Amino acid sequence: MKEEQQPLHHHHHHQRRVTTKKLTKPTAYVILLLLSYALGYLSAPSFNSANPSSPRIPQATTITSATKSEFDQFRVTAQCADPVPSKLVRQTILDRLFNGTSPFDDFPPAHVSSLLRPKRIKGWGSNGAVFENLIRKVKPRTIIEVGTFLGASAIHMAELTRSLGLKTQILCLDDFRGWPGFRDRFRDIAMVNGDVMLLYQFMQNVVHVNMTEWVLPVPFSSGSGLVKLCEWGVLGDLIEVDAGHDFHSAWSDISRAYRILRPGGVIFGHDYFTAADNKGVRRAVDLFAKLNGLRVQLDGQHWVIDSA
Ligand SMILES: C[S@@+](CC[C@H](N)C(=O)[O-])C[C@H]1O[C@@H](n2cnc3c(N)ncnc32)[C@H](O)[C@@H]1O
Repeated sequence: MKEEQQPLHHHHHHQRRVTTKKLTKPTAYVILLLLSYALGYLSAPSFNSANPSSPRIPQATTITSATKSEFDQFRVTAQCADPVPSKLVRQTILDRLFNGTSPFDDFPPAHVSSLLRPKRIKGWGSNGAVFENLIRKVKPRTIIEVGTFLGASAIHMAELTRSLGLKTQILCLDDFRGWPGFRDRFRDIAMVNGDVMLLYQFMQNVVHVNMTEWVLPVPFSSGSGLVKLCEWGVLGDLIEVDAGHDFHSAWSDISRAYRILRPGGVIFGHDYFTAADNKGVRRAVDLFAKLNGLRVQLDGQHWVIDSA
């Protein structure tokens, strides 16, 4: 026990000797906790040269420079490219992901159209006042949504931006897999050989409300998608985080998403004040804000962090 605990508190590198074999359960747990903490911390924006105006870590933090260098090997290495101008964001996504063409061209394909409903939307707090409040305030040119499902919140935001006369591109980052067992509640979403039609039903919903020019799916996992957006220099003026609600998912989504928030932009998310809150969203948001010296504001069930 004594030997295994040493490395975490010791500052001399030559004495670092963590052997997984000898770890007791509680020790392993503490190490895991610190690693995930450090992972997110090291990918936080204070290390991001593309975002020099990010707030610095406050002095009060308990993480020392010694632990920083110890955990350096876990650092997310992606470098954000220089920001792409807002008016080129849509074309950048089309070029990078869709061979330069819109995924809505010739949609829906013949083999899928009979499997879709003209419109099938279900959301959670997806029409809350927070969306209008933030869109009026930020007047975003680019919104990045992490967690879209059938598009309830994305479509709500598209309608808001249109009614305010804004030319806003909304990028919807979602693997469009839902979650294991989601079809218990959504039996009507078709499945073909194990492939659920979430992406296509979302796209059909966007077609139904005539928003295909303003909304694009980014059909990948939040982790890989957010890293690529950073590497491509695609930044959001407004970023909504509403994907995985456990601590680790929320923590990594927020950490990665904050790197691609345009300086002065706003990042926000659902489930700070709902039955799901103790799953980890609130803990992740609070910890992230604390480490980065940011203030968490509340708007209904949503948390809001304004980088301005
Ligand atoms: C609560 S739903 C989003 C609801 C939507 N924002 C609304 O208000 O209508 C969560 C979504 O996150 C997606 N998701 C969960 N974990 C993900 C991950 N690691 N990468 C990509 N998408 C993920 C799921 O596929 C699901 O569609």
